[in-house]
Amino acid sequence: MGLGIAFVSAVHAKVPVLLHDKSAAQIKSGLSLMDKLLAKDVSKGKITQEAAKEARDRVAVVDDMKKFRDADMVVEAVSENLALKQGIFRSLSADLSPKTILATNTSSISITKIAASTIPEGKTASDPEGQASTSRVVGLHFFNPVPVMKLVELIAAVQTSKETLERARAFAIACGKEVSSSQDVPGFVANALLMPFLNEAIMCLEKGVATREDIDKTFKLGMNHPMGPLQLADFIGLDTCLAIQQTLYTGTGDSKYRPSVLLERMVDAQWLGKKSGKGFYDYP
Ligand code: CAA
Repeated sequence: MGLGIAFVSAVHAKVPVLLHDKSAAQIKSGLSLMDKLLAKDVSKGKITQEAAKEARDRVAVVDDMKKFRDADMVVEAVSENLALKQGIFRSLSADLSPKTILATNTSSISITKIAASTIPEGKTASDPEGQASTSRVVGLHFFNPVPVMKLVELIAAVQTSKETLERARAFAIACGKEVSSSQDVPGFVANALLMPFLNEAIMCLEKGVATREDIDKTFKLGMNHPMGPLQLADFIGLDTCLAIQQTLYTGTGDSKYRPSVLLERMVDAQWLGKKSGKGFYDYP
């Protein structure tokens, strides 16, 4: 998703982009995907060869997040893990210009909790430093594949300032997206509705109500969904689906969000869907 966000930033918003990932292999495969997407857009006449080259030249890789120092905005897109995100936001907040907006692409985790992790050591949330660092944190939730999906969910933490929210909205629009706003509740709007649906589909398979093909066919042909729920869960990543479902379950305390045992077992087995080559379907 990080690469997709970099792509729409460089191609549509036409802003310089700095990419960072702890894995060099991930950066390499991301940049090669970007080259493929640009070449495809040129071959389809969506952009000129020159515009594609300009977009590619706007993207640079940095080996240290401190090099984001003077960026207008940072968009974090690591996995759905609160502690990981809090650690990253703590460092970003300490190292970057106070004007830099700190956005998270989280699918479900509390933006308010992430924002609170930026309070400088020895300060409180009500100190001017605590208010300044937390008010620049915002949720900017893109959808996969980012170059194709037209929506961004915009989520204000309880601490987010109006200025941060409006700058984040303007950025999403510049990236060619429509914006929908959600309060900071577990899963926001998108995943509070989508994940229980996917989880129910998995429970349906678990109970033997229908085959995986028939579950997916029901939604593709019966409801005109582009993908059936099991295919979509594989596409999103079963670890991501489980993490979001767990956030819904623990965040609301409502048993209706209990993750399916089959989903848990598949993640235990590292059958994570398309990215691992095996999920509800095989991806040779
Ligand atoms: N990156 C960039 N572009 C991609 C892509 C990718 N990974 N995969 C497909 N595309 C592009 C193709 O290049 C093609 O573009 P053109 O029209 O310019 O040729 C277009 O998408 C259609 O692709 P295909 O014809 O190959 O395949 P398709 O018609 O089956 O569409 C799909 C593929 C767009 C993924 C479609 O199946 C779809 O919309 N699926 C549902 C996706 C969805 O629901 N996403 C949201 C998931 S939830 C989420 O992301 C948030 C979360 O918090 C969990």
